Order: sequence, then C-alpha cells, then structure tokens
Amino acid sequence: MADRRPPAAAPLLRAALCLLCCAPAAVRAVPELGLWTQAVDDKSGPLIFRKTMFNSTEIRFSVKSFSCLRPVKFTIEWTLKYHTCHNEYPELEEMSQKHELEEDFCAYLKNINCWTTKNENLDCNSDLQVFPSLNNKELTGIRNASNQEGSMDIVARTQRDGFHIFIVSIKTEKADASWNLNVSLSMMGPHGYISASDWPLMIFYMVMCIVYILYGILWLTWSACYWKDILRIQFWIAAVIFLGMLEKAVFYSEYQNINSTGLSTQGLLIFAELISAVKRTLARLLVIIVSLGYGIVK
Ligand SMILES: *[C@@H]1O[C@H](CO)[C@@H](O)[C@H](O)[C@H]1NC(C)=O
Ligand SMILES: *[C@@H]1O[C@H](CO)[C@@H](O)[C@H](O)[C@H]1NC(C)=O
Ligand SMILES: *[C@@H]1O[C@H](CO)[C@@H](O)[C@H](O)[C@H]1NC(C)=O
Repeated sequence: MADRRPPAAAPLLRAALCLLCCAPAAVRAVPELGLWTQAVDDKSGPLIFRKTMFNSTEIRFSVKSFSCLRPVKFTIEWTLKYHTCHNEYPELEEMSQKHELEEDFCAYLKNINCWTTKNENLDCNSDLQVFPSLNNKELTGIRNASNQEGSMDIVARTQRDGFHIFIVSIKTEKADASWNLNVSLSMMGPHGYISASDWPLMIFYMVMCIVYILYGILWLTWSACYWKDILRIQFWIAAVIFLGMLEKAVFYSEYQNINSTGLSTQGLLIFAELISAVKRTLARLLVIIVSLGYGIVK
C-alpha cells in the first residue's frame, strides 16, 4: 500500500523523515539543581555540593531552623573550588562520610582557584529566634552597591565559568555538644538557577520546539495541497511531528521550571522521556516502512 504512492509525494516524504530522524540527539542527564535543603547534625561530615556554574553566580547559604540543647558556639567554614575537568576529586563525598577529609580543604584541593571563608563564634541557644546570618567580608563592598535586601546571605560568588565544588563545614568548639540544623543553599546565576551546562540545552529545546511547530505547519500545508493523494502514512508522520513538538515543549518546561525554582520535577522528566521514546519508535518504524514497503513490515 505504501509503495503505491504517487511520485510527487515520495521525495517529500523521504525528506521529511530524514529531517525527523536526523535531529541531533541531546546528551541526556538529570539537570543540575539550584536549591538544596539539608539536615545537618553533630555527626555529619562536611557538606559537598557540585555544580557547573556561570561567572558571577551568587551562592547563598543560611540556617533555616536549628535546635541546640545547650548554648554552643559554631564555626562555619565554606570553600569554593573551581576545577577544569568534570571528574576531578570524585573521592570527596566518600571521604566526607567517613570523616577522613582534612581541615584545610584548599590545601587538599591544591590551593589553585580555591577560596575559603570562615565565620567564627556564631551563638546558638534555645532562646534565639533566628540563627545569626553568615557574611563574607570580601563581598560586602559589592553587596552595598547592589540591592541590600536581595543580596542577603551571599557567602560566595564564582569568578569564572565552569565546574565548581562548594564545601561547607560546620563545627562547634565542644566536640560532645548535640545539635541539629536545617540548612538551605542556593546557587543563582545570571540566567537563574539553571547550571551552565543545562543552559544551552534549554535554548536547544526552545529552538527545537519552534522548529517542530514550523514542520507541523509545513506538513499541514503540504497535506492540504496533495489532499487527494493522502495515504495513512502521512497521518502517522503528522503524529510524529506532534509528538516531537510535545516532547520538546515538556523538556523546555522542565528546564524552565528548574531555572525559576531551582528544584526538579521528576514526573515531568519521565513523561518527556516517554514521549521521546514513543516518538523515536514511531519515526524509525516509518523509515522501515518507507524503505522496505508496508507489505514486508506488516
Ligand atoms: C528540619 O526539617 C525537618 C523536616 O522538615 C524537621 O522534621 C526537623 O524538625 C527540622 N529540624 C530542626 C532542627 O528544625
Ligand atoms: C556597607 O553598608 C554598611 C551599612 O549598611 C556600612 O556600615 C558599610 O561601611 C558599607 N560598606 C561599604 C564598603 O560601603
Ligand atoms: C567574571 O565576571 C567579572 C565581573 O562580571 C569580570 O570582571 C571577570 O573578568 C569575569 N571573569 C572571567 C574569567 O571571565
């Protein structure tokens, strides 16, 4: 049935299918988050966060809630390390869990492109309403220049584009003190919470969504022009175009969501991957049908 197409439609069909199948396959990974909340207690090791960040990304760290049974003084130290290779220092997380990480992180991280700041004598007791906010003296000048309210809790600022590790170590002078903190960390770049490696992907999904809309319009116009010759396969191609459009739109909304809230919606990502899989199956099936003929495939 499919190989009895009128000659005018055949090249169009091949061209359209090629366009659908040759769209570059993006490297898929779970997008990096921009906002974390974590519970810390006297037994946890240093907190380690990794992200690919743009230059001038603002890192905010604050203690949201706390419980200290007895009055205690905290020392909070944070370290920002820039590294050039993606898989550098993979052992940090494990060492932190085993409490093997040394005090001086920058010395361990070879002291290059490493910035560390320390806030000492932060009081914590049960009468306190809010935990004292952290500050970074080097950033105070910049902070005054910009908006006062919006720049609260900024503890560090990146100085170049690339991979970064952010380590927070929370300690008390008394080793036996028992305490509990809920901390919040955010990394907000010039484009929002999105990481530097996901930003081009977000643009890619937006552009591809527009491209699919154009395909759809083109396909509808062609179908209208050749409406007398339309076979069932043309409807399936329209379905592939529609699925492609939907897939890119869902991916785009997931990335946009991460960019504005810093948090990922797992369901949206799974839904997008499912649509993507269905679309690719359908598109490849259509290619086989066109090249072998419907009789054989059936
Ligand atoms: C931290 O957050 C958890 C969950 O929201 C809560 O159960 C816990 O009481 C909080 N801890 C403190 C010290 O406020
Ligand atoms: C920033 O503002 C604070 C008060 O809001 C002031 O004490 C401090 O001197 C200012 N720093 C600079 C560098 O202007
Ligand atoms: C990072 O941004 C700052 C200010 O916007 C700029 O002065 C600096 O040159 C930038 N660094 C790099 C490595 O591009």
